[in-house]
Amino acid sequence: MKLLVTGGAGFIGSHFIRVVLEQRPSWSIVNLDALTYAGNLTTTMDVQTHPQYRFVYGSITNRKLVDELVSEVDAVVHYAAETHVDRSISDVEPFIFTNVLGTQRLIDACVRHGKRFHHVSTDEVFGSLGPDDPRFTEATPYDPRNPYSATKAAADHLVRAAVHTHDLQGTISNCTNNYGPYLYPEKFLSISITNLIEGRPIIVHGDGQQVRDWIHAHDHGMGCLAVLERGKIGETYMMGGNTELTIADTARRLLRVMGLHDNMLSFVNDRPGQDRRYAIEYTKIERELGWSPQIAFDDGLRVMVDWYRNNTDWWRPIKDSSGYKEWYRDQVVRNGDKF
Ligand SMILES: NC(=O)c1ccc[n+]([C@@H]2O[C@H](COP(=O)([O-])OP(=O)(O)OC[C@H]3O[C@@H](n4cnc5c(N)ncnc54)[C@H](O)[C@@H]3O)[C@@H](O)[C@H]2O)c1
Repeated sequence: MKLLVTGGAGFIGSHFIRVVLEQRPSWSIVNLDALTYAGNLTTTMDVQTHPQYRFVYGSITNRKLVDELVSEVDAVVHYAAETHVDRSISDVEPFIFTNVLGTQRLIDACVRHGKRFHHVSTDEVFGSLGPDDPRFTEATPYDPRNPYSATKAAADHLVRAAVHTHDLQGTISNCTNNYGPYLYPEKFLSISITNLIEGRPIIVHGDGQQVRDWIHAHDHGMGCLAVLERGKIGETYMMGGNTELTIADTARRLLRVMGLHDNMLSFVNDRPGQDRRYAIEYTKIERELGWSPQIAFDDGLRVMVDWYRNNTDWWRPIKDSSGYKEWYRDQVVRNGDKF
């Protein structure tokens, strides 16, 4: 099997590449990535010289390149995306180009060459849950609440439309919040861990009662492999981590894992576009494909903390860059907030 993985220099795509090279040693992978601010070749450092791995620098919006690469493989697993909610609020255009147009370019090439296509999506397309609402399932109506999730929702609909109108051999998975090594330090857990290593506090927005369902990116990768191999064409599969926690409780768990106290928590004003609760019911994929998350949150968190402690070379240059510092001041701390 030859796979084209898009966005494999990003956080979750790189975990999927590792999963495939470990679990399916005879497969080969081409990783197409545009190396935006979130993509980093050091994220795939450990597989760079693997004989069955090849990196191609380029955008999924480049029709000619995409067509050429798709024609050479058996299947495409599509991770490439603009992924940060706050950035989508400041400027939605890159999200429309990559998440919507780029996805369509991949779909077109897969239809043209009759190739299998797995589209990786998020639970954020379903909007936000109240505290007592049942978890999201494959039947939950779409209700995106911010520009990022709106573009991911659009991409999901384009995949379904192509399955119906062009016989695309497509599947979709919607997954909840991922964590693990290589998480770019713009997401809650990676900012918090690196801040604590630097002796700075965890920043919690609003009351910290936003609920997230954490899944390790390795478990997510195993789920995508299961869907790619055994998923039914046209179907959607939900993947959850079975670890619903408020952000404040997540922060406290992290402090415990790192042997620190609650005085390292700092509450600041809430950000716009933040959903209250995400949680996923994953019984369909468990029943039909035999997948369930295997990594307990505290165990995964401990390994993640060790990884950030041992890999300062990976994240410090990102945090030290002037662009990052500006973004951190504007988006995380917010001008005028104390921390
Ligand atoms: N992070 C999560 O918790 C989560 C949860 C569920 C689903 N997802 C989905 O998983 C996928 C990967 O998320 P992530 O957190 O690893 O994101 P990420 O931001 O870490 O990585 C995205 C990668 O895509 C690349 N990319 C961006 N635009 C591109 C383009 N036009 N052409 C080629 N490559 C491009 C970037 O360079 C980067 O390497 C996304 O589709 C996201 O919606 C993420």
